Amino acid sequence: MNRQMCGRAYVLLALVGCCCLLGLPLADAAVVEHTFHVGNLTVNRLGQRQVITAVNGQFPGPKVEARDGDTVVVHVVNYSPYNITIHWHGVLQRLSGWADGPSMVSQCPIRTGGAAYTYRFNITGQEGTLWWHAHVSFLRATVYGALLIRPGPDKPHYPFPTPHGEATLLFGEWWNASVVDVERQAMLTGGAPNNSVALTINGMTGGYELAVRHGRTYLLRLINAALNYQLFFKVAGHAFTVVAADACYTDPYDTDVVVLAPGQTVDALMYANATPGRYYMAAQVYQSLANATYTAATTALLRYEHHDAAAEAALTLSRTKIVMPIMPAFNDSETAQGFYGSLTGLLPDGKPTVPLHVDTRMLVTYGLGVMPCMPAQTLCNRTRGSVAASMNNVSFQLPTTMSLLEAHARGNVDGVYTRDFPDRPPVVFNFTSASASSNRSVMLTSKGTKVKTLRFNTTVEVVLQNTAILGSENHPLHLHGFNFYVLAQGVGNFHARSPTRSPYNLVNPQQRNTVAVPAGGWAVIRFTADNPGVWVMHCHLDAHLPFGLAMAFEVDDGPTPDTVLPPPPPDYPQC
Ligand code: C2O
Repeated sequence: MNRQMCGRAYVLLALVGCCCLLGLPLADAAVVEHTFHVGNLTVNRLGQRQVITAVNGQFPGPKVEARDGDTVVVHVVNYSPYNITIHWHGVLQRLSGWADGPSMVSQCPIRTGGAAYTYRFNITGQEGTLWWHAHVSFLRATVYGALLIRPGPDKPHYPFPTPHGEATLLFGEWWNASVVDVERQAMLTGGAPNNSVALTINGMTGGYELAVRHGRTYLLRLINAALNYQLFFKVAGHAFTVVAADACYTDPYDTDVVVLAPGQTVDALMYANATPGRYYMAAQVYQSLANATYTAATTALLRYEHHDAAAEAALTLSRTKIVMPIMPAFNDSETAQGFYGSLTGLLPDGKPTVPLHVDTRMLVTYGLGVMPCMPAQTLCNRTRGSVAASMNNVSFQLPTTMSLLEAHARGNVDGVYTRDFPDRPPVVFNFTSASASSNRSVMLTSKGTKVKTLRFNTTVEVVLQNTAILGSENHPLHLHGFNFYVLAQGVGNFHARSPTRSPYNLVNPQQRNTVAVPAGGWAVIRFTADNPGVWVMHCHLDAHLPFGLAMAFEVDDGPTPDTVLPPPPPDYPQC
């Protein structure tokens, strides 16, 4: 296993000063530095040549490896034909919101034609598997890579037995088309984008191989980078112990199936204790939407290798026998919810960490809706209207002149956003009933750039309630800038005082940055707004994001110098 830290430079005196300020351990604090050249890359997939947008001519892009406490510096230079931004999915970005990356939320995009921007942030109190991806248009379909954080020098061990090796599996989706065209077509018609034609594992539509040795334990770092689909993952003949999700440690959870929504990661130990041979690892679409038909699956190979050539040769003889895992049905919500609902957080020092006092409570309904066709939507059916998506019936619209964060920092937000994101849905109806959801008056939504403003250190509890408008679906909700506790989840409408509702887990709930809220159901999340800036919360299905399934939290500066958002870096892109 390659455990070497690529691009790692030990920095001496220059860093010492700022490390003291940030309270990081001085010994061994390092700078992990990369340059990302974004440009065109021609690849062959499914017998076809396709020009994609990629970083450094690699697909998936380079792996970024750091330790807790390190500073990550990535110089992004854009030679691609599209404006670009890069988001460090799950990185808390404490006091470094300028490096977060969502287009027009934290920055204007880096322009095509060789423009550059340096993302600089510290990894503070995080360990596990995260990833990075483009955060503009559909470009993240091919502009993504792993971001691995290992324990820092003051805590060099995992809270589980050290595995013999590790492997990163990035799951993606493939189109035999430019993904920018796929998105453009969806916007013109005001309908769903075309489905991908295949799933990928580490960028390959088949053929990825992982070699293991019998009797050893491997840490699988699983990342769902697919645009629109949740996935089941299994390895024939093998079981896992889940030890982390979204770079938050979990209590060890034994399972033979892992379920990941787009945006989510899972760290799972796999024991190579099967009869030496060859086994398929398989990822398959999980569809929560009734009547959905897309059921793609893909495989990679797990191959036992031997220390001695004779045994290897014997294995070669058995080449024809590759065992395939038995996958759940593509619409097996019970298995999906069983996995999502079973994870609990590993308590540091055995002590609960959930904030018990709540300052702000919100009920946020979200899902699809409709809107009159815009003039630019030339292929939109005027009677049906355009698909829209919304949170509390506000379909989020990105500003065009200045990022939300820049307007926030300037203290003048006029013409960029308003501070009236509602705490509750405007109309209360039977959110998860198909008939109540087909009433035209609840389907209609309107555009806005509304944020919810929070005082520094406010603890917020949000009930995320799916609606059944245009179908009930499990939407993965992702929050930038924070991890949140998932206190409870369930199906139907959330009732605060229902005797049948399962109680909140205030002891050891899982922490995540992306929660897969059950189709036709709800989840309750809680977090403390201790990171000043503007942080978007959105559906991580790219089919829904451009239609407006997003909102943002604006978190005010705190009272002390170390709780104030610093000014933007000198090369901060302008629109
Ligand atoms: Cu991984 Cu805002 O996204």
